[in-house]
Amino acid sequence: MKSSLAAISFIFAATTTTVNAFVNPSTTRSYSVFQQNISNNKNNINIMTAATSINQTPKTVALAAAAVSDTKVSANEYKEALLAARDDIDILLAENACGPLMVRLAWHDAGNYDKNLASEKWPLAGGATGSIRFAPEINHGANAGLINGVKLIQTHIKEKHPLISYADLYQMASSRAIEYTGGGPSLGIRYGRQDVDSPDGCQKEGNLPDGEADPDTGNYGGTSGTASTEDKTPGGHLRKVFYRMGMNDEEIVALSGAHSLGRAYHDRSGLGAEQTKFTDGSTTQKFANGKVAPFHAGGSSWTEQFFVFDNSYFIVLNDDKSDPELLKMSSDKAVFKDDDFRPYAEKFRDNKESFFESYVKAHNKLSELGSKFVYDTPITLD
Ligand code: HEM
Repeated sequence: MKSSLAAISFIFAATTTTVNAFVNPSTTRSYSVFQQNISNNKNNINIMTAATSINQTPKTVALAAAAVSDTKVSANEYKEALLAARDDIDILLAENACGPLMVRLAWHDAGNYDKNLASEKWPLAGGATGSIRFAPEINHGANAGLINGVKLIQTHIKEKHPLISYADLYQMASSRAIEYTGGGPSLGIRYGRQDVDSPDGCQKEGNLPDGEADPDTGNYGGTSGTASTEDKTPGGHLRKVFYRMGMNDEEIVALSGAHSLGRAYHDRSGLGAEQTKFTDGSTTQKFANGKVAPFHAGGSSWTEQFFVFDNSYFIVLNDDKSDPELLKMSSDKAVFKDDDFRPYAEKFRDNKESFFESYVKAHNKLSELGSKFVYDTPITLD
């Protein structure tokens, strides 16, 4: 049933005009507002088409089906393929300076997990299942711009390494952006995730966090969120979102430190500035190995060197004299304002190793939420 649905989607995609999916349909101020606009926008249909056509070539559907969902591929063969894919992902990250985008892609694939649905049939609880490659999930307001990451993985990695599941490739690209181009801790994540094979595996909209309150309601979560994530305070909202995933306060603060990487864009989340002195191209951005990062201009970064993964996010966030062009969303500020978050934020500000230690545990947990692993013995790479 599912494969026939995939085939129908493919025929539909192939016979419909596809627009440039890199162009976002709206520039708005918050996820909530963005969501309202995107669902009213006729371009949305075309973006859905683009998202569908990326994933549904007969070749990749067939190969993916023969990959991790089929134990004919031995664990050793799968591991060999993972190692080869990792080399190409490292090249992709260095040549396209797309590490932060990949971290966000993997986190949004995983972060819609609902532990309250854990006893339901997989993949109803959501999580790191590769579902983000399908419409409607890729068109959720919170996922604005992530189509770019889906396309990069599809064209540069998946077509060359069809045995590896999308869910694994997204998590691998994220972990390499932290370990390799970012120079952060070694994460040692587990592989062998099974992909959902149709849009039936997409999670409902509204499980991911808001950085700023909806200007109309003053609520975080809400309009584009689920009622269960709504709150008047950013701290309360973060707890509702992350507790639903099974995360605790320490993990919420540690994971927020991923904003050491990357930027917010006006034409995606609607937050931040069009560009700042750190993102307009006048400042050299470097990877952790000292090589220049060939980034495209635009957006607002949380840190000055936004391809390097360290604890600078916590240092800048807590410094009233930090450069005003650096981004501090309300949800970021909550990690120092909230009484129960603050001890962790201060610890991570003062001690990078302590941040890394907590981050590794939280990241690994995030990367496995809702995942169905095909191989009983965990596959990891050195
Ligand atoms: C704590 C709640 C969080 C909120 C409210 C939040 C919100 C946001 C927003 C609004 C953006 C800008 C998106 C854009 O305009 O393109 C963003 C970017 C980003 N987020 Fe988060 N985020 C949160 C947690 C996380 C977590 C847990 C991670 C990873 C573990 C993460 C990783 C990133 C990265 C790397 C970017 C930059 C993406 C890029 O440069 O393309 N965020 N986030």
